[in-house]
Amino acid sequence: MSDPGFEISPWELRWCGLDLEALHRTESIFALSNGHLGLRGTLEEGEPVGLPGTYLNGFYESRPLPYAEVGYGYPEHGQTVVNVTDGKIIRLLVEDEPMDLRYGDTRAHNRVLDFRSGTLRRDTEWTSPTGRTVRIRSERLVSFTERTIAAVRYEVEPLDGDIELVVQSDLLVNEPITATRGDPRLAAALDRPLIADEVAARELAAVLVHHTRSSGLRMAAGMDHELAVPGSARCGVHAEDDLARVTFAADVPFGEKLCLTKYLAYGWSARRSAPALRAQVEAALAAGLDTGWEELLARQRAYLDEFWAQADIELDGDPALQQAVRFALFHVLQAGARGEARAIPAKGLTGPGYDGHAFWDTETFVLPVLTYTMPGAAGDALRWRHATLDQARRRARELGQSGAMFPWRSIDGEEASGYWPTATAAVHVNADIADATARYLAATGDEKFEIDCGVELLAETARLWVSLGHYDTAGLFRIDGVTGPDEYSALADNNLYTNLLARRNLEEAAAACERQPEVADRLGVDADELAHWRECAAAILLPYNHELGVHEQSEGFTRYAPWDFAATPAENYPLLLHYPYFDLYRQQVVKQADLILAMYLCPNAFDLGQKTRNFDYYEALTVRDSSLSASVQAVLAAEVGHLSLAFDYFAEAAFTDLHDLHHNVSAGLHIAALAGTWISCVGGFGGLRDQDGLPAFAPRLPAPIDRLAFRILWRDSRIRVEITAANTTYRLLTGEPVRLTHHGEARVLEGELTLPNPPAPVVAAPRQPASRAPRHNRPRHLA
Ligand code: BGC
Repeated sequence: MSDPGFEISPWELRWCGLDLEALHRTESIFALSNGHLGLRGTLEEGEPVGLPGTYLNGFYESRPLPYAEVGYGYPEHGQTVVNVTDGKIIRLLVEDEPMDLRYGDTRAHNRVLDFRSGTLRRDTEWTSPTGRTVRIRSERLVSFTERTIAAVRYEVEPLDGDIELVVQSDLLVNEPITATRGDPRLAAALDRPLIADEVAARELAAVLVHHTRSSGLRMAAGMDHELAVPGSARCGVHAEDDLARVTFAADVPFGEKLCLTKYLAYGWSARRSAPALRAQVEAALAAGLDTGWEELLARQRAYLDEFWAQADIELDGDPALQQAVRFALFHVLQAGARGEARAIPAKGLTGPGYDGHAFWDTETFVLPVLTYTMPGAAGDALRWRHATLDQARRRARELGQSGAMFPWRSIDGEEASGYWPTATAAVHVNADIADATARYLAATGDEKFEIDCGVELLAETARLWVSLGHYDTAGLFRIDGVTGPDEYSALADNNLYTNLLARRNLEEAAAACERQPEVADRLGVDADELAHWRECAAAILLPYNHELGVHEQSEGFTRYAPWDFAATPAENYPLLLHYPYFDLYRQQVVKQADLILAMYLCPNAFDLGQKTRNFDYYEALTVRDSSLSASVQAVLAAEVGHLSLAFDYFAEAAFTDLHDLHHNVSAGLHIAALAGTWISCVGGFGGLRDQDGLPAFAPRLPAPIDRLAFRILWRDSRIRVEITAANTTYRLLTGEPVRLTHHGEARVLEGELTLPNPPAPVVAAPRQPASRAPRHNRPRHLA
């Protein structure tokens, strides 16, 4: 067992037994999504339920952001993801008795998330309170190939004689949701957010069309069915504003079964009318039925076969981690696959946490994975940012800046955070978008994207840095009063991460404008502006404490009072729920990798000695109250030689959700931590860095892993990298030869290349704050 309840298996996640307490978290873990439509892993019968959830990417309700004291430039409206029409529900009556796992006797119950078929299966044997026993099997998918379609196959078989069954298949709107308060990471509770526009029902099908009160968005959900029963069944359909129901009643003889296939289709729009959306969903349903269940399954598997051929990571030596890595990749795929020019939220479409907002998590954590495994999806996510450029330009003007200022958190492109010290001031998100754009361009060479979107994203963000910064009397370019990734520091001067990423932004913008002079011309970038970007980049201030021999996270940071870790009890983490920001901001305590992340993303700005000293210094201050931290610490620990620590951080990232390490998986998965699992393997143990126009590897394996193999796409070539303790074998699977470096040595990969791994530097183990050592929570023999 990798965790009580989950069985270890390389290609699936199986939960055996019934644990009602665990429903909330298993619903997130068993969520299915294609990046456009997301269904939480609730049971078909609708109850018992932890948190019902059906989400459409980009579909939200807006709500006023209340302030005790208003200020200029504060966003007035927030956005919250809406739990839309629930089409998962299939209620069952067994001889008059509602099937409900809280009653009767559950003789067997297991659920399986299958990473290769892309389905969630369930197998339950249940005896009703009146003593009748049935077996229920279901399989559910959210189609990767037909992105508006989901389908469920639901089978009921009597195990103790002939039986009378009634099945009610629902579309349910405005489901009641228990409000949660007091934790800023959860979502605002919306009270009945959907208003009915149109209701239609005929034969075995129904469609409901609704709109939101304030955001003016409209959605439609439809269902249709195929029923197979021995003999005949009585069927009826009924629909009202917030409920559509198709009912089937049948007598099922012993040895036979009832088999219902439910097809669901969803659509939403900010512009289309109710009849148009209804027509869209009816058409999608017709297409879904025409394709049929078996073909939907076959297409799902073919899609996943291709994904795994491109993205799989093989890991020998720790089966629980092998499973966790594939679980992570599967969910990253689900979050990003078919978003198609919409945001990738921090929780994907697995739960309402963080109100369904997208953050820098997308560009800095998710897009590196997609860039090297599913570049089309990475390009789509960047196209979403590009589509919101006008809003970002307006926001920059509103705040007196040039260029574009992207929101810290958002669904539709408008800033949706009212807490400005870690939102408006966290301007690094702009450099993160530029960083992801530059990485995508280098790895894919996608010139069309560069012309249509890339140059503009880079240039408009470069302009922001020029207006945000200024030259001091010593001729250094300063960016003051900003917040870096560490949210326990705010409004700091010259945050090293921000300045380094801004430098990369300015340099990449200049290079892109030179490559595409016509686009530069259209954007009004002339030779002077370009030269100015380069001057600012060259003069940027990088704070360093010469006495300590370490970089400063921000200017003056190393002189702040140290946080009293010895006096901080373990139960007071996360600190944000127990201490005022006022106190956190003015002491040396780091929520998450900040300067450490800069050393990963801008590797050439530091020599190995600096990286080693910086790592040790910040390791002793970093509490990992954010799930974005462990994977980055794994990468740098591997680079500076703390291999066993790197392994521990990798394991922490990989088990973040499976072991619910942050105690909030019920509100949705931590997609950045899942993506960070890939980053730990590829950036950490593979040592991949990508800044000089070619992939640079520096592989190194920690002892518990016997073998690690991953694949990446570089331009149109597919490479497989296989690492053992002694050697690394690079294999060109398809495409043109690739220039790469192995521990600094330049090579051209034509067929296969096996090279020795030099030993890691020998360094003394660093220390973490009291009670903040990596969290394993793993079986002893593997820990
Ligand atoms: C982290 C941010 C992150 C956000 C959403 C916060 O706890 O500090 O860096 O963007 O969560 O994942």
